Amino acid sequence: MSKKALEFATKNQGKALAELKEFLRIPSISTLPDHAGDVRKAAVFLADELKRIGLENVRLIETSGHPLVYGDWLGATAKPTVLCYGHYDVQPPDPLDEWLSPPFEPVERNGNIYARGAVDDKGQLWMQVKALEALFHEYGGKLPVNVRVLCEGEEEVGGEGIAEYVQQHPEALKADVALVCDTEMFAPELPTLCVGLRGMIYTEIEVRGAKTDLHSGIYGGAAPNPFVALAQIIAGLKDANEHICIPGFYDDLQPPTEDELAAWKRLPFDEEHYRQTEVGSPELVGEKGYSVIERVSVRPTLDVHGMPGGFTGAGAKTVIPAKAVAKVSMRLVPNMTSAGAYEKYAAYVQQLSPRGVTVETRLIHSGEPVVIGTDNPFVQKAVKAMHEIWKKDTVFVRGGGSIPIVGEFERHLKVPVILMGFGLPDDNLHAPNEKFHIANFYRGIDSIILFLENCGV
Ligand code: BES
Ligand code: MN
Ligand code: MN
Repeated sequence: MSKKALEFATKNQGKALAELKEFLRIPSISTLPDHAGDVRKAAVFLADELKRIGLENVRLIETSGHPLVYGDWLGATAKPTVLCYGHYDVQPPDPLDEWLSPPFEPVERNGNIYARGAVDDKGQLWMQVKALEALFHEYGGKLPVNVRVLCEGEEEVGGEGIAEYVQQHPEALKADVALVCDTEMFAPELPTLCVGLRGMIYTEIEVRGAKTDLHSGIYGGAAPNPFVALAQIIAGLKDANEHICIPGFYDDLQPPTEDELAAWKRLPFDEEHYRQTEVGSPELVGEKGYSVIERVSVRPTLDVHGMPGGFTGAGAKTVIPAKAVAKVSMRLVPNMTSAGAYEKYAAYVQQLSPRGVTVETRLIHSGEPVVIGTDNPFVQKAVKAMHEIWKKDTVFVRGGGSIPIVGEFERHLKVPVILMGFGLPDDNLHAPNEKFHIANFYRGIDSIILFLENCGV
């Protein structure tokens, strides 16, 4: 059945890659206001291609932020509807000087394509588009299932616009299953379904001391230093065993099942290799009593991303800054809630505040953790599709990252979600030299073709 679609995809691999490069050249960085025009340009690029391959009702849906891209093809009577999701926005590329080639000038090296967004998520989104194109080709302008495509340009900044749209228009997105291609394989050549994602709260702590920046010789000794206060607060958030000290933080946590823990023990994982090749630090750290796999997927975490303010130029400047900021996020796991976690955190930050300063916390964005059920027929259809392409049984893992809309799909659309991703552990997501293994781009297209076809039978 799918032979013609797979043949079409294979024959057009070079073209698909060339198109992806064009997509990657658009610096659609959602967090930087200066790039709003580029984000829109990427949306239009995607919409044009959806139209060209044969989707109907293709349009940009405006939100309070960057637009959504929508298209559908609903002519498969009595067949299920698959909602295909991806995001066309990317993370900022800095630090620029660590890239071996410029982030928005995609190049091929060693069987990989290097660019910001190569795997997260433009490349994986493009796999879905190319799979649909191949199916339209095989079925003479039709598809073997009904399809809705919904893509966002704000995933990397919390996905507020799409969440609002999904909450307000569930009837416009009626579907039987959602397909999300935005995760990784556990190891090369190992087909993987992601069956859980962490939630998160992304916050800022702002500490204010003196009314203005002060000479540190004239006032040092009497004026409070907001950076030192901030350091004291941050240091109080975790103990020496990497346990988060926020009172009640772990209260609602639901641990994974014994079966899950046993299955993860069987995964091919070499801690030393991971330390050397992926992390590259002298030692791995983390919460005492938990394996590395548990620490990066089913345990909550707390991280500091940056501390803007004060003097950061070259050389020395003797100043006591008037204010200091820290960007602090926490990853949440089932069944923690973002609202509960933030409330406990904000209260504890006040408790940790030293005298002489005022401290304010702000919530920038949040998303809920999810566990994905595996007892639905679409999981088997995904496993079967991947077996045909990769010749291996699929492993089920929980992802440590967050995709805020996945929980909303489950809650508001009441559909099972299939998280079928083809990234590799060393793809450098959000980091310099992000890449996508080109063979995975091609095999991903094939896997999606078969999955969509399986959904129609
Ligand atoms: N695609 C990632 C999430 C991901 C990566 C999940 C690998 C599982 C495995 C996504 O684009 C991402 O980076 N999300 C952000 C979300 C946040 C900004 C709300 C994240 O996890 O930091
Ligand atoms: Mn992503
Ligand atoms: Mn990302």
